[in-house]
Amino acid sequence: MFARRRALAIGFGAAIAPAILSTARAQTTGGVLVFGASGSSGSEFIKHLPATTPVTAFVRPTSNRDRLSGREVTFVTGDVLNVADVAKAFDGRSFNTVFVALQSRRGEPNPYVGAARNITTYAKANGVTQIIWIGQVGSSATTVNQADYPDINFKLFGETLEFMSAAERIIVESGMPYTIIRVGAIIVERGKPPQPETGQGRLVDDVKQMGAIAYGDLGRLAAACAGNKACINKTFHALDDTLSAQYKHWRCRRFATPETIDAC
Ligand SMILES: NC(=O)c1ccc[n+]([C@@H]2O[C@H](COP(=O)([O-])OP(=O)(O)OC[C@H]3O[C@@H](n4cnc5c(N)ncnc54)[C@H](OP(=O)(O)O)[C@@H]3O)[C@@H](O)[C@H]2O)c1
Repeated sequence: MFARRRALAIGFGAAIAPAILSTARAQTTGGVLVFGASGSSGSEFIKHLPATTPVTAFVRPTSNRDRLSGREVTFVTGDVLNVADVAKAFDGRSFNTVFVALQSRRGEPNPYVGAARNITTYAKANGVTQIIWIGQVGSSATTVNQADYPDINFKLFGETLEFMSAAERIIVESGMPYTIIRVGAIIVERGKPPQPETGQGRLVDDVKQMGAIAYGDLGRLAAACAGNKACINKTFHALDDTLSAQYKHWRCRRFATPETIDAC
């Protein structure tokens, strides 16, 4: 009960403060620089920013830009693990907020640690006043007590979560104002379009809670944090109580063996 009251008190419960904190406000100067802009979380974040907010999208030369069509953005190209590319993205530009949502790709080096290092170095040097980092439940800048997260398969994802934890540490220790939003389960079923935005996703600061979230809600909540003092130096978990059935299914599959997967 207390945890729920706390979640609402920080303003992301739709019933309590819809106008203040669940929709984004414009940043007319500086704007945002988005790493992972071609991805699901990055593009949903951009979609939920006010049209007047200048957006610079950092994408790879090979990135598919389709998710960004219909929104005015300035593109810069590069690899987040290449320090010169990251430096170039900041060169001659001024940003209020940097948003980062990266996913490792099969056959490529894990991007989290290098990205956190490169981005915080140049964001800090260029006077950026907020980094929003999309992280994973089960990682932390401080010690993780695995018993707190019975729904996380540490056996399978332990190494990735360690990279994520190291990245969070770099961000927090950089001294930059940060907002870390960790996701538990993002609901995407193979061969189906992603779970549509429900409008019910929320951020909680009780980091023992986890659940499912739709990309659209994640983007909306992250956009509401851009330039928002209530989100500075905070770590949130994103979840949506209306997706509990999908969450149960997701959890079952995460722990399934080839023998048990059909039962999920
Ligand atoms: N727990 C869950 O169920 C779950 C599920 C999904 C995601 N997540 C988490 O949510 C976050 C975002 O995931 P997402 O689904 O939005 O990812 P996504 O759609 O796969 O997008 C990932 C983005 O990262 C970019 N990227 C990767 N390596 C890069 C590099 N070296 N340089 C520049 N850009 C690079 C990709 O660019 P390209 O388009 O060029 O590849 C893409 O824009 C991650 O932290 C992920 O771990 C959690």
